[in-house]
Amino acid sequence: MGLLRANLPGFPLTEDELADATLGDGWSDEELPSLVAVEDDEVVGFVRAQVRRMLFDGRPIRGVCLSDLVVSEGHRRGASGAMLLARQLKGPQDVSWSDSATDFVVRAWRALGGQVDYSRAADFMLVLRPARWIGDLIAARARGREVGRELMPVGALPAHAAGERISGRPPPRPEPGFHGRDADAASVVEALPAISRGLRVAVDWDQPQLDATFRRIEALGGRLAVRIVDRGDKPVGWYACLLRPGGVSRLLHLAAGERVVDAVFGELVGYASASGSAVLSGRAEPHLERPLRERLAAIGLAWQPVIKAGDAELAAALSTSASVLSRLDGELSRFH
Ligand SMILES: CC(C)(COP(=O)(O)OP(=O)(O)OC[C@H]1O[C@@H](n2cnc3c(N)ncnc32)[C@H](O)[C@@H]1OP(=O)(O)O)[C@@H](O)C(=O)NCCC(=O)NCCS
Repeated sequence: MGLLRANLPGFPLTEDELADATLGDGWSDEELPSLVAVEDDEVVGFVRAQVRRMLFDGRPIRGVCLSDLVVSEGHRRGASGAMLLARQLKGPQDVSWSDSATDFVVRAWRALGGQVDYSRAADFMLVLRPARWIGDLIAARARGREVGRELMPVGALPAHAAGERISGRPPPRPEPGFHGRDADAASVVEALPAISRGLRVAVDWDQPQLDATFRRIEALGGRLAVRIVDRGDKPVGWYACLLRPGGVSRLLHLAAGERVVDAVFGELVGYASASGSAVLSGRAEPHLERPLRERLAAIGLAWQPVIKAGDAELAAALSTSASVLSRLDGELSRFH
C-alpha cells in the first residue's frame, strides 16, 4: 500500500478497498493474478489485474484489466516495470486492457504486441445547463484554480450549448414508447440477454459481481444511477451514470442495440438533466457514435487506453460498435 501511495499521486483506494477489489474479488483467477516484484524480501513493484468474464460471439472468454503499475523509485530503470507488464500480457487471457496509460506504458504495451485503443480514446461532453457550467468555470478561474477534468472533461468548445441559434438544428426529442426505470444489479442481469442481443463482445456480468462493482464505484465516485430502459414492457438498454447534480455527471456504461441506442441515450440525457446535472460526460465509445453525432457533442482525446487481444477477429470486433467495453467494465479509479 505504501508503494502505491508514494508513487501514484491521488491513489484512491484504502487498504481494505484494495484488498477487496484485488484478493477478495469474486472473479479473481489463479491463472491471472496481480503481480508483485520482490527484491531481498521487499516488495518493489506491483501491477493489478482485474479479471473480467466476457462473451465473444456467445463463447466465454477471459479479459484482464491492468492498472496501478508501479515500481519503487530506488528500483526504476532496471526493467522491473517492463517485466511486470510482460508477465501479465503473456498470461492466458484473451484480451487485456488499461483505461489510462502513461507514455512509458504505451511504449511498453506496443513493444509487447498491444496498441492504443483509439476507438475508446476520446471523451464526450454535453452541456445541459450552459449558464450554470460557464458560471462555475468563471468562478474557478476567478479563484485562481486550474480547470480540471472534473469541471471541463473535454478540451473543446461545446457549440451545442448555444442551442439552435448556432447549429440551426433542434436537439433530438425523446422518442415515444421508451421508459426508464431505476434498477439494481439483479434486474440488470435479468435483462442482459434481451439487451445484449446483437452484441459480439461484452462483459458477461453476474449479479454478485455487478453488485460488488456498483458498491466499489459508489464508494469512490458518489451516487450511481443505474437504470433500465424499456420499450413497452421489454428491456432494450441499461446504463450506469455517476450523478452530480449541479456538476458534471459521468456516464460509465450504456448498453443497447444499434436500433435503440439513440432512444436509450435520449432517456439518459433527460434523466441527467432532470437530476440537475450541468454537464453529462463519458467515454465516446464506438456504439455511442450516432447519439453523440446527433447531439453535436463536444469530443476530445482523453485517457490513452491500451488494449491487446491475441485473436485477430476478437481485436477487430473490439474496435466496432458491436462491442461494449466501458469504464464500468474496467479500472476502478476516480472517474472524471
Ligand atoms: C512507470 C514505472 C512503473 C516504470 O517502472 P521501471 O521499472 O522503471 O520500468 P522499466 O525499467 O522497465 O522502464 C523504464 C525506462 O527505463 C528504460 N530501461 C530499462 N532497463 C534499462 C537499463 N538497464 N538501462 C537503461 N535504461 C533502462 C526503459 O527502456 C524505459 O525507458 P522509456 O521510458 O524510454 O521507455 C515507474 O516509473 C513508476 O512506478 N512510475 C510511477 C507510477 C506510474 O506512473 N505508473 C504508470 C501508470 S499506471
